[in-house]
Amino acid sequence: MGIIKFVVMYLAMVITISPLAVISVPNSSPAAVESWFKSLPNAREKLTKLHFYFQDQVSGPNPSAVEVARSKLTASSPHFFGLTRVFDDPLTVSGSPSSKAIGYGQGIYSCASQHDTSLLFTFNFYFTDGKYDGSTLSLQGRNPLGVKYREMSVVGGSGVFRLARGIAVASTYWANATTQDGIVEFTVYVLHYDSPAVSDEGSVEDM
Ligand SMILES: *[C@@H]1O[C@H](CO)[C@@H](O)[C@H](O)[C@H]1NC(C)=O
Repeated sequence: MGIIKFVVMYLAMVITISPLAVISVPNSSPAAVESWFKSLPNAREKLTKLHFYFQDQVSGPNPSAVEVARSKLTASSPHFFGLTRVFDDPLTVSGSPSSKAIGYGQGIYSCASQHDTSLLFTFNFYFTDGKYDGSTLSLQGRNPLGVKYREMSVVGGSGVFRLARGIAVASTYWANATTQDGIVEFTVYVLHYDSPAVSDEGSVEDM
């Protein structure tokens, strides 16, 4: 053994671990969040537009959306009133389910209307790629499936999307009424802050 083997192991460890150090998500310790708030007066609010496809797979052996509740009325309701699913749906760069995933839509939808097939959505977009890796957006809204463009609210966020607000436009790209599988095109307009993140060590990193 000896020192050479130790040094080689140490270098291998550093080389393996170092990519983590360049993640763009700011430090979430209380001290770092406090510093971020203190830097807010110098921050600029900016508009970011995001575009991706939400792959809602209900049928088959590997569904991404699973039923967790229904009411006594659901089976006889033309609008599936009471049906509730939890989903962890891939967000892909194109409409093709096999295209690159850049994150996940994770949350719950319920059929919450007796007058049309309209869902209550309460969910997060969790991004796993590029400069948004590790950041989230939190959304809530009414999603009437029969309408071409549905507006839902971005009510907050984390990481690069701290204090975000905005509008998510959902539009059905493809759907199968029999299987209830669907692909939804999302165009999301987000106001958030473009500010240097001050970490609790006092260093400044540009996001
Ligand atoms: C919908 O899914 C059913 C069941 O898999 C299939 O038989 C049917 O062809 C599909 N319809 C469309 C329009 O894809």
